Amino acid sequence: MSVLSPPSVAALPTTAPYMIAELTRQGLEHHAAGDYRASSQAFRIVAETAPGLPLAWNNLALALSALGEADAAVTALRTSLSLDPDQAQIWTSLAATLMQLERREEAEAAWTEASARGDDDAAAWPFRAILAGDPENGAANAYLGRLAFARGDVRAAEPLLRRAAESEPLEAEHHNNLGVVLNALGEPAAARLAFERAIALRGDFVQAINNLGAALEAIGDEVGAVTAYRRALAIDPGYVEARDNLDLACAKAAPAWHFPMMADAARNDAYDQALRRVAPGRRVLDIGTGSGLLSMMAARAGASEVATCEAVPQIAEAARRVIAANGLSDRIALHARHSDQLEVGRELAARAEVLVTETFSSGVLSESVLVTLEHARRHLLTPDAAVIPRRAEAHGYLVAGEAIEAHLFAPRHAGFDLSPFDLFAPSKVGLHLDRLRHEVLSDDFEIFAFDLTQTSFTAERRALTVTATRPGRCVGVAQWLRLDLDAETTYENRPTAEAGANGWMHVLYRFAAPVELKAGDEVRLLASHNRTAMTVALAQ
Ligand SMILES: C[S@@+](CC[C@H](N)C(=O)[O-])C[C@H]1O[C@@H](n2cnc3c(N)ncnc32)[C@H](O)[C@@H]1O
Repeated sequence: MSVLSPPSVAALPTTAPYMIAELTRQGLEHHAAGDYRASSQAFRIVAETAPGLPLAWNNLALALSALGEADAAVTALRTSLSLDPDQAQIWTSLAATLMQLERREEAEAAWTEASARGDDDAAAWPFRAILAGDPENGAANAYLGRLAFARGDVRAAEPLLRRAAESEPLEAEHHNNLGVVLNALGEPAAARLAFERAIALRGDFVQAINNLGAALEAIGDEVGAVTAYRRALAIDPGYVEARDNLDLACAKAAPAWHFPMMADAARNDAYDQALRRVAPGRRVLDIGTGSGLLSMMAARAGASEVATCEAVPQIAEAARRVIAANGLSDRIALHARHSDQLEVGRELAARAEVLVTETFSSGVLSESVLVTLEHARRHLLTPDAAVIPRRAEAHGYLVAGEAIEAHLFAPRHAGFDLSPFDLFAPSKVGLHLDRLRHEVLSDDFEIFAFDLTQTSFTAERRALTVTATRPGRCVGVAQWLRLDLDAETTYENRPTAEAGANGWMHVLYRFAAPVELKAGDEVRLLASHNRTAMTVALAQ
């Protein structure tokens, strides 16, 4: 079987010296007549007489190959390529000839050179020829599969790479490539098996381990995914893809705000004080375990029983370790489930007498705390159960300032009008206003207040009239959170320059355009919430 690429023997430039041109012409004639012995002799004289001509070596290689002298053909092709490395088809010929000689690694390197020079078709040709005679050939299937994938033809790539993966000797690389294609075809479960086989063949194959992580994430095994990314990083700490994937997976499970939230001393103290007053001797349910902090506070305060639930399994697992590390495993019953999946008589021995929860978003409602409380009140608490916090409020003021305006609007920059970009501006943005210079244009006002001891909550709309106390260019309303933990303890995160760590941000409700205000002007606002989200806008 001939596996040389399409290029055929070729005439020399007309500028070549007469003898060389004449010998080449004769060689071509012999070649066309199938007399490869004669053509190879003619081409060899040409090549040795004019050793700087790449074409002369190509012709010689072709004739040698036709004679079945593959080793000599390889030498001629390498000589040609040393003279002009940019001949994609000659790289292809070299690759194919090396394949004949079963020098696979050198062949792979030559195909890479051919493809790098943009001659994919030329590079593919010998592999198609190989498959015609040997449909199971692993290297050829692998090459063509990779090529199809690179061209975006994922469906064509799959059977090729599958055959490559199944061919002996088994190659980790082929299984990994098959997995990548299966993932792209939306078959992460099958991809996972392919990656696992690749890793079984080569334990330190970091790309396959990282890819396994991605497949596990796609089938919902986040814990397995994180384990895979960590394993890849243990082998290669500088492997950027695995590090990014690990960070994304961690942030998906436990967003980064968990850290400043846990470090928020004012928040923690407020909960601790209320728990020390309310929890002793009572059955406490903590909804939304996080690190387990509030449950541990309740146990320390002397609760008779503490049960807690966490909707995110990875967070629940981390909390289990935290609670164990603090010697409280036998005092706290942790359930890795959403609160609406708890049942009295199953996870809870009896209805709880105290509910503690810190499931408040910066905009108060977005962690669905009202829905959670309604369910808990109906199914998990005694009728007179205490709720910590017992009240949550959203407060705000009118706000102005260049820095904030730059966060919210795209006006003129560098001499251009960018304002049409405002089309994409969000109507609310979370910002740490403690760290952003701004001007306050009004007294504080209440936007909404929620009595958390209620049994049910309904959506609301409120018209608010706010008077400007200072002149300025108002860009919107800055909102913060106030929690009454119990009758004695209140926490709020009104922006202040002295603020420490804080998981909660402030929410900036942006006006459609800045409004110039004079002191005494009245601003009419419409505040609305649908139980899980809140918004504030200028009234029409
Ligand atoms: C803001 S964090 C507070 C964590 C911890 N309680 C603290 O104060 O440090 C809220 C946690 O509650 C979980 N969560 C929110 N709503 C939940 C619900 N209804 N049932 C179970 N877990 C919930 C979230 O996944 C998150 O881990």
